[in-house]
Amino acid sequence: MNRPIGIFDSGIGGLTVVREVIKNLPNEDIVYFGDTARVPYGTKSPNTVIKFSVENTSFLLRFKVKVIVVACNTSSSYALTTLKNNFKLPVIGVIGPGIEEAAKATSCGRIGVIGTTATIRSASYEKEIKGIDPRLKVFNQACPLFVSLAEEGWLNDKVTYMIAERYLQPLKDKKIDTLILGCTHYPLLKKVIQEIMGKRVTLIDSAKQVACHVKKILGWGDSLSSIKRKPRYRYYVSDEPDKFIKTGEKFLGRKIGFARKMDGYV
Ligand code: DGL
Repeated sequence: MNRPIGIFDSGIGGLTVVREVIKNLPNEDIVYFGDTARVPYGTKSPNTVIKFSVENTSFLLRFKVKVIVVACNTSSSYALTTLKNNFKLPVIGVIGPGIEEAAKATSCGRIGVIGTTATIRSASYEKEIKGIDPRLKVFNQACPLFVSLAEEGWLNDKVTYMIAERYLQPLKDKKIDTLILGCTHYPLLKKVIQEIMGKRVTLIDSAKQVACHVKKILGWGDSLSSIKRKPRYRYYVSDEPDKFIKTGEKFLGRKIGFARKMDGYV
């Protein structure tokens, strides 16, 4: 089916998911929406996150997308059920695919989850992990400053190590062997996180797992694209696009070139 994949996030972070989707599905057109005027979602209330997520999905439907990927962990934590109940097309969140992988990866049954304050408060990861196996132990830690560090591009700085050590020490004390990176921005800080947690801890990058899941879902529905031309990537934002383009290229690992600001779409 040669319709685009629709992906949204609260801002630029979801581009880590786009990056993996492009790698896994190089023949698919993508329409991305980053709600840069209203970011961050990670500090907002559940109802606000749900409202924004419904609006973002409605916006993407204008492009006749065949699937919606909720690339934001905070939106996935609060809005996934509402989106699934209110829209007819498949809606894929970032939580399910990551936890399946984590449950497979752990050998001691002790899994850590890091995310925004809202994601951790929702306990969404914990609930889903327990749904797979109630014996698994889950340890949560909100790491709100990681979002700013990733956006600043401070991926290797001393201050980043110091902050990461402070956030991650409680999880080290719990002797976890698997750690879920439950936020769009955290894959950029993988190197620091891995160094602090040590080689024995497996990091689960939700973005990678989501991309595999999207491929699987489209394959099952016989909805993979058969286009022979180069795929089209379109980027839309709700605020001025300059910062999105500049910072976003680091998240995406390729040129964005052009992004359009949607005036008054909500
Ligand atoms: N995209 C958000 C998430 O994955 C992080 C940024 C925000 O707080 O909006 O939870």
